[in-house]
Amino acid sequence: MTMHDHIDQILFDEDRILARLDEIATQITSDYEGKDLIVVPILHGGLILVANLLRRVKLPLKMECLSVESYHGGTESSGEVTFNQLRLPDLKNAHVLIIDDILDSGRTLDAIGRKIVEECAPDSVKICVLLDKKTERAFEVHPDYVGFEVGDEFVIGYGLDYQGRYRNLPYIGTLKEEFI
Ligand code: IMP
Ligand code: MG
Repeated sequence: MTMHDHIDQILFDEDRILARLDEIATQITSDYEGKDLIVVPILHGGLILVANLLRRVKLPLKMECLSVESYHGGTESSGEVTFNQLRLPDLKNAHVLIIDDILDSGRTLDAIGRKIVEECAPDSVKICVLLDKKTERAFEVHPDYVGFEVGDEFVIGYGLDYQGRYRNLPYIGTLKEEFI
C-alpha cells in the first residue's frame, strides 16, 4: 500500500496543474519584466508550487522564504499565525510576490501581507496561491494569481498536508475517511 491508496478523489492531476503553472508563469514573466522581483515562498505549503512555478518564470528573480504556522496539525485553522524567523528578509524597494499553497480563511496571508508591508517597506506586494478555497473569508485577501478554485473541503497534495504528510503527492486530492 502506498500513499496513493489513501486518496479518495483526485481533483487536479499533475498534467493539469503543470499546464496551469505554465499560464501563471507567463503572466508573472510579463507583469514583472524589468522590475526587481523578490518571491517570498511560504513554507512548507508553498514549497512544491514554488519549485515548479518559478522554473517556468523567465526573470532573474530573488527568493526569500518565510515560515509560518497556523494549523498545528488538524484540519481546522488554529486562529493564530506564528512567524518562525527572528528577522524578516530585506525587501525594501522590491516588488514582492508571496506564494502559498492555499487561501482559506485568509488569516495566514493577511498576517503575512500586513507584516511585510509594515516592516519591510517593499514597492508592491502581490499574492499567488495554487488554490483559492471558496469559503467564508474571515479576512479580506485578494489573490493576484490563482491556480484553481476549490470548494470548502479538506484537500492534500502538491504542498498541502494532513498532519505533515502528503505534501509530496504530485496531484491535489482528498483523503479517504479512514485516514483522517
Ligand atoms: P488560512 O489562514 O485559513 O487562509 O489557511 C491557510 C493555511 O491553512 C494554508 O497555508 C494551509 O497550510 C492550511 N490549509 C487551509 N486549507 C487547507 C486544506 O484544505 N488542506 C490542507 N491545508 C489547508
Ligand atoms: Mg499547512
